[in-house]
Amino acid sequence: MEAIKVKQAGAETVNIFLADKNIGYCTACKACWFNTPGTCVVKDDMNEVLCLLQDADVWIWATPLYFDNISSMLKVFIDRLMVIGSPYWDKDKDGEYRHLTTIAVPKLIMMSNCGYPETSHFQVISHWINRHARNLGTEVICEIYTSEGALLSTQVAELLPMVSDYLQALETAGKEIVTTMQVSEKTKKLLEQKFISDEVYAQEVKFYVDSILKMG
Ligand SMILES: Cc1cc2nc3c(=O)[nH]c(=O)nc-3n(C[C@H](O)[C@H](O)[C@H](O)COP(=O)(O)O)c2cc1C
Repeated sequence: MEAIKVKQAGAETVNIFLADKNIGYCTACKACWFNTPGTCVVKDDMNEVLCLLQDADVWIWATPLYFDNISSMLKVFIDRLMVIGSPYWDKDKDGEYRHLTTIAVPKLIMMSNCGYPETSHFQVISHWINRHARNLGTEVICEIYTSEGALLSTQVAELLPMVSDYLQALETAGKEIVTTMQVSEKTKKLLEQKFISDEVYAQEVKFYVDSILKMG
């Protein structure tokens, strides 16, 4: 989430880059449920990250789209959330069983970008984040998906205003979340806009690939 606007709106933000952390796999030993309740026996950076997450009002999961899904790095981290689960089950409001959690899990926001032009590539992530929120006993307040993701770092002069407008809409979304805990329909629409048509984008990608391969 765009930290500056969010800060201007009165929120404190913490950016955690999983790539900078040493977070190992959940080994399914279930010690965090039965032997050392609430504490994971794997000693790595997960505890530090959990401390940062504990007091947050909102958790934002952000990932590039990898093979139609979240990155493995994010998934490894999510699996380690076993430690905030309880071995006991309860039925949710729809009558479906889920593990209780030992903390009140904040609302979730999902952000992802992908290389292809269509937003349909985010179908799996969108389905997953809503199931994941249900599993944790919380809800998703916003999903932000950016297709044509390569254009976010474009140097093509004609595209820069469009990218700048998009980043501005992201800032607005951040501000709205801080003040109202939701994103307005107007801002959602701005965030759903394509930078360029699918066909022009695909053509540009082809030119780019051609130019790189010719260099070699
Ligand atoms: C391993 C891997 C798998 C990818 N799979 C997809 C995919 O299934 N669909 C897609 O549109 N883009 C895919 N991409 C492109 C990435 O989503 C894109 O490079 C990324 O969103 C750019 O984010 P970044 O600027 O943070 O690197 C893949 C990239 C990698 C490295």
